[in-house]
Amino acid sequence: MRTVNDPLEFFACTEEFRSAGDRVGLVPTMGALHQGHFGLVEAAKRLCDRVCVSIFVNPLQFNNPADFDRYPRDFDADAAALEAMGVAAIFVPGVEDIHPAPINMRVATSGIVDRQEGAHRPGHFDGVATVVSKLFISVGKSKVFFGEKDYQQTRVIADLIREFHFPVEMVVVPTVREADGLALSSRNRLLTRAARDAAPAMYAAFQAGRANAVQGSATAPVLASMRRLIEDRAAQTGAALAIDYLEAASGEDLRSLERFEAETRFFVAASYDGVRLIDNVAVFEK
Ligand code: PAJ
Repeated sequence: MRTVNDPLEFFACTEEFRSAGDRVGLVPTMGALHQGHFGLVEAAKRLCDRVCVSIFVNPLQFNNPADFDRYPRDFDADAAALEAMGVAAIFVPGVEDIHPAPINMRVATSGIVDRQEGAHRPGHFDGVATVVSKLFISVGKSKVFFGEKDYQQTRVIADLIREFHFPVEMVVVPTVREADGLALSSRNRLLTRAARDAAPAMYAAFQAGRANAVQGSATAPVLASMRRLIEDRAAQTGAALAIDYLEAASGEDLRSLERFEAETRFFVAASYDGVRLIDNVAVFEK
């Protein structure tokens, strides 16, 4: 497995793979890897000959500097796991490699970023779109793999690819969960015991909501009982809970919905003992 720090060197590496006739895949990550990330790597291995993984904790997308500072980092374990999975190259730039100072350029997002994560984390998606553009330029023609866990991010990236004509094709991979339903996240490592016990209630609420949702009926009463379930569980465990949003929204343009439609998804963002988690599911089976 090759380890590359420099963006142009990474491009040379993927060019070499392509010139040998190999299909290149890229899995962008911020490290502290878990089974959710490995699911993306497995998907990439099925569709590509040479799988590359980038590991870069991108300061531009953290609206809260304390969240950036305490974001988990575990490079040695990440590299060992990726090598064991047969990954061809890891791209692990330093902050100056990706964002050389002074920073005079960045991608400005609009539209669907006004909702949900974008509404609660000012500048977040500009930071994501900027770094992902740089990664796409460095990787060149390839398939790129993103998780449904960050559903709004996949929509932003779809716009980025379409509007900037990147020669990449996006594959969206389903969310990997713990046995109790909690979506895997690098931030789960930061959860207190009480928070870890309380957080699966988000998925339990999704399941309850799915059972009660009927197309054409009002979303508000369903969301109210989902919220109670999440709050009651946190109260039982003693975890401090702050729900940023819990909503039923269109899977197409992410606008909040008063009545259930075929493409409705539930979206949640909540902090447990100060650790902010997000999740989403489709309400109706396809
Ligand atoms: P990160 O949070 O490390 O996630 C990297 C990729 O793994 C994302 O596409 C995310 O949706 C996916 N992922 C995370 N948890 C998952 C789970 N439980 N199941 C399936 N996929 C999961 O998302 C980012 O990093 C950054 O914003 C990045 C795109 C790398 C840009 O900096």
